[in-house]
Amino acid sequence: MAAKIIKDGVYAVGVVDWNERHFHGHTYVTKRGVTYNAYLIIDEKITLIDTVRKGFEKEFLENIRSIVDPSKIDIIVINHIEPDHSGAFPEVLKVCPNAKVYGTEKARSGLLKYYGVSGNWTAVKSGQSLKVGKRTLEFIDVPMVHWPDSMFTYCAYDKVLFSNDGFGQHYTTNKLFVDEVDFDVLAEEAQKYYANILWPFNMLVASLLVSISKLNLAIDFIAPSHGLIWRKHISYIMEKYFYWSAHKCKKRIAVVYETMWDSTKKMAQKIIEGITSEDVEAVLFDVTKNDRSDIVSYMLDAKGWIFGSSTHDGEMLPVIAGFLHFLKGFKAKGRKSFAFGSYGWSGEAVKNIEDTISNITTFDSSFKVVFNPTEGELSKCFEAGKSFALKIKNEE
Ligand code: FEO
Repeated sequence: MAAKIIKDGVYAVGVVDWNERHFHGHTYVTKRGVTYNAYLIIDEKITLIDTVRKGFEKEFLENIRSIVDPSKIDIIVINHIEPDHSGAFPEVLKVCPNAKVYGTEKARSGLLKYYGVSGNWTAVKSGQSLKVGKRTLEFIDVPMVHWPDSMFTYCAYDKVLFSNDGFGQHYTTNKLFVDEVDFDVLAEEAQKYYANILWPFNMLVASLLVSISKLNLAIDFIAPSHGLIWRKHISYIMEKYFYWSAHKCKKRIAVVYETMWDSTKKMAQKIIEGITSEDVEAVLFDVTKNDRSDIVSYMLDAKGWIFGSSTHDGEMLPVIAGFLHFLKGFKAKGRKSFAFGSYGWSGEAVKNIEDTISNITTFDSSFKVVFNPTEGELSKCFEAGKSFALKIKNEE
């Protein structure tokens, strides 16, 4: 995609990876692709904010060249060194070897480890700023949004917050701003992005949001390094970040299961019927048929989590085992759960589930059945779903 103007002197020069379907290895299915955003500021000093993923250098430099000769870049700001943003840095540095580079000290050491180069580096931290002409760039440390090296860069002149991984979405389009696309779809992708990228760091995100609020920044644009730029709905996404990082939840329930001979599936279906009888929102996920990144997006603000697995060779089934190991990394708080499942002769799966994630949710009244559930046992599943829904509904 060609460079695009955000406002006078400020350009989006990043690239679009339309068909990238697996981000962060295979942890995150990006069904709408990925963008690697970078920004160019034309002032007395020509400033590049972030780069793009390796493999896109040629297109990236062409985008810059459509605005200015890349060799004339005076300043490169590195907000974050993860390879999706820094991969093109060595090639950019070859084109403008005398550019001054600004970022955190952790970013410098990380770039040296990744690429063996960091350029003419100046380490910066919160409270420091850099005059680039009529504009002054202010740096804000945001460790763990999304790595220890991360920072935001704010330009008061243009009222732009260059937020790198913060406030992103994995959403590709030929549009530039969030208000130019279907907002419901965009919001769904922003939630999935938060769940998969920032949820594990809720405590830090919450405290950074408070610190940033205290700065009283005038913000007309939030320009992240993934997805579309927020020039509208800024209070919407800010409020969402406050909400998610505070572990707040809706009264809704995720039922996630894996089944071997359909007995656990029959139990799951009765459980969700019971939940439905109390008119509480719920979704049933067969973990073998849904991507884990979509399931955790729903679970991010679901108060109730129910898990089911058949027992196989004394263990829970392997796909749900992998899912629960993935889930426990999110360090959730304040959830309610029970586990269920069918078994033949030993029935360890229910306890395996509880043991795996008891650090992030509270289990109560888990149960299991032998072989195929009887009508009476299916009624018990219905009642378990109903009474769990009542607990979620009546929660303060
Ligand atoms: Fe988009 Fe943490 O990299």
